[in-house]
Amino acid sequence: MTSSRTAFLHGWRLFLAIAVVVLACAAAAFAIGSDAADGSRTAIRVTARSSFLLFLAAFTASSFASLLPGPFTQWLLRERRIIGLSFAFSHLVHAIAITTFGVLNPAFWPGRSALTNLPGSIGYVAILALAITSHRGIARQMGPTAWRRLHVTGMWIIAAVFTYSYFKRVPGNFWYAVPSALIFTAIVVRWIAKRAQAIKRVSSRARSAAPALR
Ligand code: HEM
Repeated sequence: MTSSRTAFLHGWRLFLAIAVVVLACAAAAFAIGSDAADGSRTAIRVTARSSFLLFLAAFTASSFASLLPGPFTQWLLRERRIIGLSFAFSHLVHAIAITTFGVLNPAFWPGRSALTNLPGSIGYVAILALAITSHRGIARQMGPTAWRRLHVTGMWIIAAVFTYSYFKRVPGNFWYAVPSALIFTAIVVRWIAKRAQAIKRVSSRARSAAPALR
């Protein structure tokens, strides 16, 4: 059942489906606001949350595929590039909602300093770099080592921006402990998967060396 459903949702069809859901959620958030400014602020929050879920899926895909191999985790790993691009799309909508809010509420940008904008701006540079280098031709030109280095660094930068964005809100609203715990769990899952792979490598090397010792 899972495999027939996941076989239908793959590649650009999956991207389109996610993009439609993200746009529908942003439009609904905008519509329920008490006015246009409040609506765009709600849309900022909603798109940050859709981005967060997509980011978590891309960030943990290979870890879950190696720790819990199965049709769903294999599908997640196969579609990681599309999920990553869907995350970039969701964050493009976050940027559009921020711009709209800035226009409707002229006190917004003057109320922020360069320092408060710094983590988000670094996050956007990382998202742009990852989205551009997701193009297969550019990835080929970069070579696997440079590509991997850029993507691992970029993913950690984005994880750091999410961690900071959620942790700083916990004192004002304890519910932000939920996404904070989720990002922490994702980091632990990645660490466990890495350790498990290292242990597997060592034991398979020891097994292949064993016959030579006999
Ligand atoms: C300069 C760039 C950015 C600006 C100006 C910005 C601005 C904002 C604003 C105004 C909010 C809503 C605050 C509120 O009403 O409580 C928000 C929420 C948020 N943003 Fe951004 N953002 C930027 C980039 C980013 C990036 C790159 C990320 C993540 C990679 C991110 C993640 C979040 C998160 C997690 C929230 C909280 C959503 C919630 O309340 O659940 N932002 N941002």
